[in-house]
Amino acid sequence: MLKIGLIGCGKAGQAVASALQGEPDLALRWIARRTKPRDLDECCPAGLPVVGLDQIDLADWLDEHPVDALIDFSGPDAVHLYGEEVRRRRLILVTAISAYSEADLAYIRSLGESARVMSSPNITLGINFLILAARLLREIAPHADIAILEEHFRDKPEISGTARKIAESLDLEDASITSLRLGGIVGHHEVVFGFPYQTVRLSHDSIRREAFGTGAAFAVRELAKQVGPGYFSFEDLLMQRMRTQWLQA
Ligand SMILES: NC(=O)c1ccc[n+]([C@@H]2O[C@H](COP(=O)([O-])OP(=O)(O)OC[C@H]3O[C@@H](n4cnc5c(N)ncnc54)[C@H](OP(=O)(O)O)[C@@H]3O)[C@@H](O)[C@H]2O)c1
Repeated sequence: MLKIGLIGCGKAGQAVASALQGEPDLALRWIARRTKPRDLDECCPAGLPVVGLDQIDLADWLDEHPVDALIDFSGPDAVHLYGEEVRRRRLILVTAISAYSEADLAYIRSLGESARVMSSPNITLGINFLILAARLLREIAPHADIAILEEHFRDKPEISGTARKIAESLDLEDASITSLRLGGIVGHHEVVFGFPYQTVRLSHDSIRREAFGTGAAFAVRELAKQVGPGYFSFEDLLMQRMRTQWLQA
């Protein structure tokens, strides 16, 4: 059983906590926020001990509440508060923060010299699988026409970052993305491959934020299997898992 500490108890963190509590081989032990409100001893809805990272001595906390892995759904500055403990204790780290600066990312990569670390701005298993499958198909059929469709709720102003990531991974310009804004759609991404006599569509629909927790759980498990330290992307871990699976088949 891998013991987990979760950093961040906002919209994503709460859903991740709830998803992690449904994983039989992972034990979520505590949740850290920036500042623990005075009247709060547990993080709702997870019902776990909650701590304010800027109110404690983290080394003492980790001595008293040891974990094997940290999962971060907080903000870009938090890694600078816990990073040295990750390095010193060789903790597994899964960080999902999407707004890291180049300097933050260089620091996180340096943690990978001592610990097993994964950082990904897109942590759902489904989207990462879709990207891998689309890249594979493009390798096999480089002359197919490719277009990306993304659909989101009416008020989302910008082009989806995930759609741009899909475009980048297929060496396509943002002009290949069509955006539809309709009602309350949570998130739909589709890659359409047009061939002369057939059409292939790879599509993904987001339903709930708990999907972030399922992706984080996958990453923790895959990192736990690594024999030594290293810095990984979600795609690296997914590829390794698929290779192992194919070799066993
Ligand atoms: N990779 C992905 O697929 C993915 C998906 C969803 C979200 N995310 C990322 O997850 C992060 C959180 O998103 P959200 O929508 O949940 O935001 P949010 O609702 O604003 O919640 C942020 C949480 O992080 C905590 N926090 C912020 N800075 C902290 C620090 N320095 N130390 C400890 N805790 C800190 C906050 O603490 P307080 O409660 O004390 O304010 C709050 O609980 C964002 O960076 C977002 O990019 C990534």
